[in-house]
Amino acid sequence: MQIGILTGGGDAPGLNAAIRAVARSAFAEGADVLGVRNGWSGLLDAGDVRPLRPEDVSGILTRGGTILGTSRANPLAEAGAMDSVAANLARLGIDALVAMGGDDTLKVAAALAARGLPLVGVPKTVDNDLQVTEYCIGFDTAVGVVTEAVDRLHTTAASHHRVMVVEAMGRDAGWVTLMGGLAGGADMIVIPEFAVDLGEVIDHLHTRHRQGKTFSIIAVSEGAEVAGLPALPASSVSGEPLDAFGHPLLSRRGIGERLGRQLEAETGFETRVTVLGYTQRGGSPTAYDRIWATRVGVAAYQLVSEGHFGAIPVKRGDQVESATLSEVVAHPRLVPEDLYRLAQIFY
Ligand code: F6P
Repeated sequence: MQIGILTGGGDAPGLNAAIRAVARSAFAEGADVLGVRNGWSGLLDAGDVRPLRPEDVSGILTRGGTILGTSRANPLAEAGAMDSVAANLARLGIDALVAMGGDDTLKVAAALAARGLPLVGVPKTVDNDLQVTEYCIGFDTAVGVVTEAVDRLHTTAASHHRVMVVEAMGRDAGWVTLMGGLAGGADMIVIPEFAVDLGEVIDHLHTRHRQGKTFSIIAVSEGAEVAGLPALPASSVSGEPLDAFGHPLLSRRGIGERLGRQLEAETGFETRVTVLGYTQRGGSPTAYDRIWATRVGVAAYQLVSEGHFGAIPVKRGDQVESATLSEVVAHPRLVPEDLYRLAQIFY
């Protein structure tokens, strides 16, 4: 038996822990493991794979990124590319492929599984926006980065009596911003799921000032919209480059910078902006990410060994259960209103 492992989409801390978990489970049962390089592009054209030996997965538990490399290559978007993936799986003698990724990577995996190919998924995305599962690899580490940033911004904001705007990742889901903002005690949280007006933000800053709070921290998601902000030029939005899955690079919209500039202009409060960017995806995974990446990795191997294809391990409560690939990618899981309202109690 030979198992392929592939990591696709944005990298996330904890991917190596999951690779190690799948590989170590396989080695324990005498199976061979093939590492697919750089996401789906490693199964296109001539293929780019390398055998993984026990020593290749030794010492990687604590390492961020992915030893396999990743990319946003999308075989669903290129004519003949899905056939090329299928042909490479057969040619390379891959009896089962474990694809670790977020909705983009797993949509490709679901489509391959629908063709009858032996695919199993592993949930990974710092955005935490997959359906069904309560855990996606990398989210906990990303939230930790935002939390630490908000903590650190507090002391400098208080010293200078400034407004601090901190921009976090998450694409169209506000999980990273909301959880990091909650944990760090942000004074306002602006996420894509719930519309906010510039006037509301300004009123809130004035209210805090009247209460003697001479600094404020505003956490904003890269994908959030704030009504009342000067619109981006239509040409800059329509001309945005898209990745292979059709997503614009939301950080280029500069919501944090635009919001900060406008707040300063309209309130007179000195304002600074911090864009956390790729620091949220870099570095060593938290203990939580290491443990759950290990648990879903081991479970992914179990699904493979049971021949349970088209499936993906998910976290439900303290248990690892299994769901179908098509369920988890059906549509993004967004922040529910009750959680958003809970955060507002602390504004
Ligand atoms: O999906 C993970 C993510 O980090 C998003 O939060 C962000 O919008 C996007 O990837 C950035 O994409 P890239 O890695 O292609 O710059």
